[in-house]
Amino acid sequence: MTDPVLALTDARLTLAGNAGPVDILKGISLDIRKCETVGLVGPSGSGKSSLLMLMGGLERATAGRVLALGQDLTAMDEDALARFRRGNMGVVFQSFHLIPTMTALENVALPLELAAVPDAFPRAEAELAAVGLGSRMHHYPSQMSGGEQQRVALARAAAPRPAILL
Ligand SMILES: Nc1ncnc2c1ncn2[C@@H]1O[C@H](COP(=O)(O)OP(=O)(O)OP(=O)(O)O)[C@@H](O)[C@H]1O
Ligand SMILES: [Mg+2]
Repeated sequence: MTDPVLALTDARLTLAGNAGPVDILKGISLDIRKCETVGLVGPSGSGKSSLLMLMGGLERATAGRVLALGQDLTAMDEDALARFRRGNMGVVFQSFHLIPTMTALENVALPLELAAVPDAFPRAEAELAAVGLGSRMHHYPSQMSGGEQQRVALARAAAPRPAILL
């Protein structure tokens, strides 16, 4: 079997709320392999987004290990994490986090331009067409429905062809 793309070993997350510490993830062990598509299902507030944030290196595990493509995210500093994410991860946030002053096309082209992809805009157009937004490319996020904004966020995350799409 191939090495896992994501490997969590007894990953824990405790956050310091103002009403005292909250144990959000209580020891998650999980391997995800290449080409696997995994759905995370659970009640609201059960920790799905928090787990994705750990896998994406956007939140640091309180204990345990999180390996992505064989690299230990729990041992990286912020700069190393940012570089690793830029090269390997696409993230669709629950609240999208589109840049409000940029059109759909500019939002999707941005990560491609940051990665110095030569045909950033044609590729961004193709990604938007693929999610059915060919006729909304020049709209701003505030001019789109919630589902349309979510599709822009999907196109933006997938456009750089990341090894890991969260
Ligand atoms: N900064 C924080 N401090 C303390 N507790 C937090 C913090 N952020 C999130 N939580 C708590 O962590 C728990 C898990 O939140 P999370 O966002 O991971 O849930 P979720 O499963 O994604 O929920 P939903 O389906 O509603 O998106 C929640 O109970 C939430 O209240
Ligand atoms: Mg969530």
